[in-house]
Parts: sequence; C-alpha cells; structure tokens
Amino acid sequence: MPSAGGTVYIETYGCQMNVSDSELMLGRLAAHGFTPVDGPEGADVILVNTCAIRDHAEQRVLGRIGELKRHLREDTVLGITGCMAQRLGPVLLERAPHVDLVIGPDGYRELPALIAGARDGRRAAVVDFDLEEHYEDVPARRFDGVRAWVPVQRGCDYKCTYCIVPATRGAERSRQLRDVVREAHEIAARGITEITLLGQTVNSYHDGAHDFGALLRAVGAVPGIKRLRFTSPHPNDFSDAVLTAMAETPAVCEHVHLPMQSGSTRTLKRMLRRYSREEYFACAARIRAAIPGVALTTDVIVGFPGETEADFADTLSAVEALGFEDAYTFKFSAREGTPATRLPAELTVPDEVASDRLERLIAAQRGITRAKNLSLLGTRHEVLIEKGARRGGLLQGRTRHHRTVLVSGDASRIGTYGTVELTGTTGSTFTGVPVAARASLPMAG
Ligand code: 5AD
Ligand code: SF4
Repeated sequence: MPSAGGTVYIETYGCQMNVSDSELMLGRLAAHGFTPVDGPEGADVILVNTCAIRDHAEQRVLGRIGELKRHLREDTVLGITGCMAQRLGPVLLERAPHVDLVIGPDGYRELPALIAGARDGRRAAVVDFDLEEHYEDVPARRFDGVRAWVPVQRGCDYKCTYCIVPATRGAERSRQLRDVVREAHEIAARGITEITLLGQTVNSYHDGAHDFGALLRAVGAVPGIKRLRFTSPHPNDFSDAVLTAMAETPAVCEHVHLPMQSGSTRTLKRMLRRYSREEYFACAARIRAAIPGVALTTDVIVGFPGETEADFADTLSAVEALGFEDAYTFKFSAREGTPATRLPAELTVPDEVASDRLERLIAAQRGITRAKNLSLLGTRHEVLIEKGARRGGLLQGRTRHHRTVLVSGDASRIGTYGTVELTGTTGSTFTGVPVAARASLPMAG
C-alpha cells in the first residue's frame, strides 16, 4: 500500500553534518507519512543533500542532478538541499528546470509543505537562515545502527577566508545541553553505544550556561554510551576545562581531529585561522599531555593564494614534526563570495604547482602513517565492529584511536566489542585477529 506521502530517497554528499541533516529530513518526512527507500528508481520524492566546500564537490552534484533526470516521472518531486542549495538558491531553479525545490540547511522543517506545494506545481527556493532552528522536535531517522551522529551546534562564526561554510550555514548557535543529553539517552535506549558530537567548531559549543567540557561530561555520563567522539574542533577552543573534561571522561576516545590547514604562520594569518604555527604546535602538545597516546589527524590545504614554496616547506615540516596519524589533504578551491577570492589575481597558485605540492604532502603523510601503523603490529586493541567490510566477507571494526581494523567473523558481531591483535597493515588500515580466538589455538612447544 502506498504511504500517505509516498516514497522518499535521499542521497547525501559532503560531511557528517550533512549525513545528520539527512537523518533529520527523513525523520521529518517519516512523521508525515513518507516511506524511506534505498534508491531513486521509482521514488516519489528524490532529495539530493549537497556540499559546497570545494568546486569539485559541486561539479559532482551537478552531474548527478543531470543523471537523476532519467528516474523522474511527471509527478516526481526533485529537491536539492544543503550547502549548495543555500549558496545558489533560486539560480539553481533557473539552471535546472527539472528541479522543483531548493532548500538550505535551516529550511527542512518546511519539507512536507514544500513537497505538497511542488505537487501543485509550485517550485520554490527556501534559503532563509533561522538562528532558532535546531530541529529539537524532529526525531532523527538514523542510517547507522552502531554509531550515532548528534549535531550540537549549527553554523560557524570563525570566517576563515577560504571557507564557504559561514555563508551556507550561517551564524554559530548551540543546542541546549539538556536536549543533547535527552537525545543521548534515546540513542542508548536503542542499543547504540557510540556517539559523535558534531559542530563546525564543536569545542566552541556554549549554550549560555554550559561549555563543551560540561557537554562532554554530561553525554559521557549517559549509561550505555561507551565511546564519545566529536568533530571538528578548532585549535583555539581547547580550553583547560575542555581538555580536563576529555581526560576525566572515560567514554571520550583517544582521537582528536585537529584541522591545521597550513604550517606557515604567514599563510595561517591570511587564512584568518587565528593561530600561528607555534600556537598550533602548542595546542597539539597540550592535547597530547592531557590524553597520553592520543591519535591526532588533521586537514591541510595547499595552494592557498600567495602560498610560496617556503610557506609550503613550513607545512611539510609541520606535518613531519607533528606526526599525525593521518591527514586529509586538499588543493585550495576558490569559493565565490569568500574573502580569499578578493586577493589579487597574481597571488593565485598555478594548478600544476598546487598539484605538485599536494602530491608531495600526500607522499610525506603516507610515509608517516605507514611507519606508525607498522610499529603497532602485534599490539592489542578494543574494537567496535561497525559493519561488513567491502572485501572478503570480513567485518570492519574501529579502535578507540579511530584505526580501522578488518577481522573475520559473522554479521551477528556487528555492534559488539572485542579485543583484537593487529596482525597486518596495508599502510592505512589493519587486519587483526580476535584475541580470544588466538588464545584458544594450541600452544606451540
Ligand atoms: N578549498 C579547499 N579546501 C577547503 N576546505 C574548506 N574550504 C576549502 C576550500 N575553499 C577544507 C578544510 C576544512 C575541510 C573540511 O575542507 O581543510 O577543514
Ligand atoms: Fe570554515 Fe573556518 Fe568555520 Fe571551519 S572554522 S567551518 S574552516 S570558517
């Protein structure tokens, strides 16, 4: 029997915040009689939740929007949501006549009404910001049964000069601590044991009465929550109170993703990151002192306008000196409307130079990751089994330090914890064997 609203398919691009937003959209629509489906074929409503962080991300989505045309019947509603929808607004309706709705990140409450309107022939672009909007009364319809993503803050006030996010997600606002804790209880009641708190600069969280440290302690105290993660923090918001809360909350995992962006103070200044190379190093050292053995990962941009070979050498040396577990590396992408696009044209770093720097950076980090991973072989770790791995009938688990481990076992183990010994590494991920299974093997000699 068809449901009242029909079927809805959401395809998600970009960051974890977008995944979380898609879960809210599905929750909102399910409460209005829509049935989620896994593919666009035959869906009554198709939503593409988009990312605008780099031009490449937008081009991919534009290609996909074209491709989706073949799945559209006369009465299918096609909506574009998320950061690219916010950025392009009505322009997207003009450019793509088969798109019915364009909805920015603060407009999802209106989805059922907008879909009804589209069915009556009213195309619409909704791109107003709503600083009060936290979707508190919208129950998320979660995609993952093992880990839960919980947005605690929306928007960003930092305004780094390369970044489109302040324009697409508006000003920073935090949810009330009690609402986040209530959601954590609901998550635990469903048997989910790992929570990742989400925010653009998540550790600047403040609800008027509680800071991020208080939030970590409160969520970490919810019975059943065994692992607590957060992403992404800003280096300037690791107060002593936050670091102490991390150290004193057993659920908080020993992994911090700490975006560096550049190792050159001159470039950092022009990115408006609000810290110097030395201040970033000091932040990493404070985190390592507070959480012994913590795994650090980072984001780095190469080819920011005006980046010289000497600036890039500073980035390379920072990556070498800091010894990140892993780094996500990006070539600068000019985003229309951001301050970086107003820098003089002659500062543009030629694409072949940026590509060459990116390659050198990736090679450097790959070597570091590989050496670190090799040194871990033979050590034992607690893993949470997350899902079936893509290859060989194996399961994919993760350590508290966020290392991926492939182990054998059947699907009934998904969602459970076990101890594994790391036996091999591809350089980036590990293979492991359950320790209990090993111990039961006959002892040699
Ligand atoms: N160009 C390239 N990379 C970018 N990022 C953000 N904006 C840009 C841009 N304009 C990167 C940053 C950020 C990550 C999510 O994406 O490294 O931390
Ligand atoms: Fe963008 Fe900077 Fe805000 Fe991160 S902190 S979302 S990089 S403006």
